Amino acid sequence: MSSTPSQFKIIAIDGGAAVGKSSTSKVLAERLDLMHVDTGAHYRTLTAALLADGVQPNDPELDRRLETLDLNTQLAGRSARLSINGVVPEDAAIRSPEVNASVSKFAAIPLIRQALFEYQRDQAEVARQAGFAGLIMEGRDIGSVIFPDAAYRFFLEADEATRAARRAKEGQTDSIADRDKMDTNRKNAPLICPDGAIRVDTGPRTLEEVIEHIIQLIHDQ
Ligand code: DC
Repeated sequence: MSSTPSQFKIIAIDGGAAVGKSSTSKVLAERLDLMHVDTGAHYRTLTAALLADGVQPNDPELDRRLETLDLNTQLAGRSARLSINGVVPEDAAIRSPEVNASVSKFAAIPLIRQALFEYQRDQAEVARQAGFAGLIMEGRDIGSVIFPDAAYRFFLEADEATRAARRAKEGQTDSIADRDKMDTNRKNAPLICPDGAIRVDTGPRTLEEVIEHIIQLIHDQ
């Protein structure tokens, strides 16, 4: 599993809540030998750590609290996870109703985004060092802010009924429309379809059809 820098692929996957970013990215990572990074999990992990510390989004001490957090990466197979002070939280802890309700508020704060910007850009080097053929990173601002020069940038979307049904199937309590509204309307790195990114409607397609469609688009580029 080694690659020369010129072959190294960066794929950016953006889109709103529950459009299918994670399922799609994980399968693409397997098929194309990529390291997978879920940046939504980064914001969730930071949110969970701050809430556990009693810190709310409007806390005047937020910058001082952030300084006490050491961000690092732990690889689990192809999945690169953010650890805070050596700990990668359980999935249930970062997908709780409390985190769902606060994560967009924390994600709108410039200090929080700055704390993750370099860390996320550095993931390309983590993937290279680990010998992957590339990196697939999913989020809201990957193709617009984190890797605007990525060779492949996709924007996933789906109708609201499909998205609500997906979350319900996962057993999650999540106000998708509210989060999207906050993520789209914030000043810093809002959720947008970046110029030049390819829109993919996941609503009428099965996961396998989405994967085949994206792989075809990658081959055609
Ligand atoms: O993908 P997700 O639903 O797990 O993301 C959780 C929240 O994190 C989302 O509401 C907005 C924020 N987020 C962000 O602001 N920028 C990213 N690149 C990824 C997520």
